[in-house]
Amino acid sequence: MGHAQFVNYHFVMDLVQFGAMAKSVLIWLFAVMGLLLLTGCGLETAVSAPPLPTLVPTGPPAATPTLPPPTVHDETAVAGATVVAQLPTNTPQPTATATPSPTPTATPIGPCAARLPGDDLFTIVTQTYGLSRDYAPQDLALLTDFLPVDITLGYPTELRQVALGPLIQMIADMQNAGLQPWILSGYRSYSAQAISWEKWNREEPERAAILSARPGHSEHQLGTTLDFGSPELAGIVGIEDIEFHTYFYQTSEGIWLAENAHRYGFTLSYPRGAQELTGFFYEPWHFRYVGEEMATFLHESGTYLTEYQLINQPEPCIP
Ligand code: DAL
Ligand code: ZN
Repeated sequence: MGHAQFVNYHFVMDLVQFGAMAKSVLIWLFAVMGLLLLTGCGLETAVSAPPLPTLVPTGPPAATPTLPPPTVHDETAVAGATVVAQLPTNTPQPTATATPSPTPTATPIGPCAARLPGDDLFTIVTQTYGLSRDYAPQDLALLTDFLPVDITLGYPTELRQVALGPLIQMIADMQNAGLQPWILSGYRSYSAQAISWEKWNREEPERAAILSARPGHSEHQLGTTLDFGSPELAGIVGIEDIEFHTYFYQTSEGIWLAENAHRYGFTLSYPRGAQELTGFFYEPWHFRYVGEEMATFLHESGTYLTEYQLINQPEPCIP
């Protein structure tokens, strides 16, 4: 066997081996592709984005035929923790930009910067949309300076000045109608809300999430939100000295507020049947000032603020 024959023999063997190897590779390639098709893990599926959530207005809160379980709810536990009255030299005006519209439409998703500032009357605050721990309104007024003690019960409750005039008028009209509303809680700082949240989490961990907001997620931090009480409540519930209970909606003050608060710019934040969207259980005592136009729009259209905001404001973010 000459040298040339030796080379040719190996050359032929290399070709044979190469051919066999290429055939194996092709077989494997087809097998893998077949497997991918069978298991539905094709490239198209692997890279397709998950569907975006769609914000759809759910319509007005449906009337619940049966009464929700009574809720004993003491929000005032931390009211005394917020006693710093910051009477301003210059009062910032609300910079509301959203206009009530009978047919709200969804806006594109916006960045954090697109969110309304805390001082805006329509700023969204929910379990998902948070306020900065540093946010505090600069035009807080102490209600005991403006309202009698049989309304404030002597609590050092604070409210933004922008809502003060309408509140005083509303209280006067309620008194003229023979009612005696109590104001149990107003502005709560981030740290005051943290104390409240920890208390609820400690005492009722299963229900804390639907009764109390985590710090940075309470409308009370806005300084435009109030909790009302009624001297009738204890008799209805049968518990002496009780201040918060779902049955507030049965009191004369609760009924009047539900029917009239919008005329003074206040809106019920957590209506019955709205828990899926608001995240919170029915709170017939918790009203937020949004101005007469918005409050009346919400009242007459049978909707509520969170529902309106989720359609008209950017996606959640923590600033
Ligand atoms: N109870 C309401 C949800 C709050 O804590 O702000
Ligand atoms: Zn409240």
